[in-house]
Amino acid sequence: MRILGIESSCDETAAAVYDGSAGLLGNVVSSQVPVHAAYGGVVPELASREHLKTVVPVVEKALADAASGRDAVDGIAVTAGPGLIGSLLVGLCFAKALSYAWEKPLYGVDHLESHVYAVFLEREVAFPYVALLVSGGHTSLFRVAGWGEMGFLGGTLDDAAGEAFDKAAKMMGLGYPGGVAIDRLSQEGDPGRYRFPRAWLSHDSADFSFSGLKTALRTFLSSPEGGAAKVQDVAASFQEAIVDVLAGKALDAAKREGIPRLVLSGGVSANSRLREIALSRGAAAGVEVFLPSKALCTDNAAMVALLGERRMSAGLLSGPELNAYAASRFSR
Ligand code: KG4
Ligand code: ZN
Repeated sequence: MRILGIESSCDETAAAVYDGSAGLLGNVVSSQVPVHAAYGGVVPELASREHLKTVVPVVEKALADAASGRDAVDGIAVTAGPGLIGSLLVGLCFAKALSYAWEKPLYGVDHLESHVYAVFLEREVAFPYVALLVSGGHTSLFRVAGWGEMGFLGGTLDDAAGEAFDKAAKMMGLGYPGGVAIDRLSQEGDPGRYRFPRAWLSHDSADFSFSGLKTALRTFLSSPEGGAAKVQDVAASFQEAIVDVLAGKALDAAKREGIPRLVLSGGVSANSRLREIALSRGAAAGVEVFLPSKALCTDNAAMVALLGERRMSAGLLSGPELNAYAASRFSR
């Protein structure tokens, strides 16, 4: 099947065309970073308005890149949730209207699921695998047994790791979006210079907590030592505290589940240091670590079209009652 995918859950308007035989044919992402940068974070109302402006040209470009007209498309997949409800509704209503007008089937994709299976755009992974989904809104571990078979192992009790990166960058005056800025600065810093706290919780817990780390950074920055510190060293030490816990807990979960495969997904898995230590510690622990390329870690519609293709080929469809949802459907 050839599926048009549409994604608008946060601050990226994206469309892609994925074909079950030919692979990814078109993949367009329009970022709203310049719109939100002045506010230091995503402003939901502005995000919805931007999606309204860009959804049509983004879909048109993806179809043009794929040289796919309406006749070549077999179905439409759209992110239904979780995410910013106003943003989701723009993509969802557009996809519904297109499905009705073109008389093509529709399928609502879960954003977390689409991240966790994005790796299949580049390579096959044997089931089961453990997936770490680490983004601006989520930090969770899953046991993935097959398509649509995701078991929740644990998640953050407070902030998501991406949120911690973004808030830390704001405190350090690095602008928005923060994750990439900290990643870049850290490359010139010493990750062992300062010791920020790691919340391991209990030794067999697959849950995370990053709010204490954020407070520790705030306290440090307002201390005389923090005031005199080199920003590169602070960034590298802060980043190390996050990725140490992410890689450590993900590999522990893989060991506990007895599964020698770990897939990283979500925007924070674009982080250079996380990728490096996940690979090296994975190799030492006998766990094969799968890293999608960076553009497939952050929000995109290729993962939506791929998951839509797999699920619609298996006969799954959504009806006209499909609605957007803000909160995650995964919990213990
Ligand atoms: O998956 P994503 O694009 O959107 C959500 O679903 O949240 O993830 C965005 C998050 C942001 O918090 C951003 O700062 C973080 O991913 N991020 C990074 C890097 N690239 C993006 N964090 C650390 N290092 C990076 N290189
Ligand atoms: Zn995402």
